[in-house]
Amino acid sequence: MDNVKSVGVYLPWVTTVAAVSVAIYLTLKQRGRRDSDEGTVNRTVQKDNPKVVHTFDIEDLDKKAVYCRCWRSKKFPYCDGSHNSHNEATGDNVGPLIIQRRGN
Ligand code: FES
Repeated sequence: MDNVKSVGVYLPWVTTVAAVSVAIYLTLKQRGRRDSDEGTVNRTVQKDNPKVVHTFDIEDLDKKAVYCRCWRSKKFPYCDGSHNSHNEATGDNVGPLIIQRRGN
């Protein structure tokens, strides 16, 4: 009978500690996921923005425009050649998107 009584005394504490532990675990897990570069393509560009979008009017393009697709350019969204060092370091094979007018 004493055992049943003591379980009743500790049960709210055990439940509370378990709930707080799960909440802390989930918070840290989510934070770790956000701070980690693992699985992300974009590591530096506008990280406080929920989505990075650039829009250009075709009429404003010069004869040729070179856009980054590796997300390593310091001049993003334009290519600055950083894809070369990225490819060497990782074995990747990414390169820019080049848009040019006919005749170039
Ligand atoms: S720097 Fe990213 S594609 Fe060239």
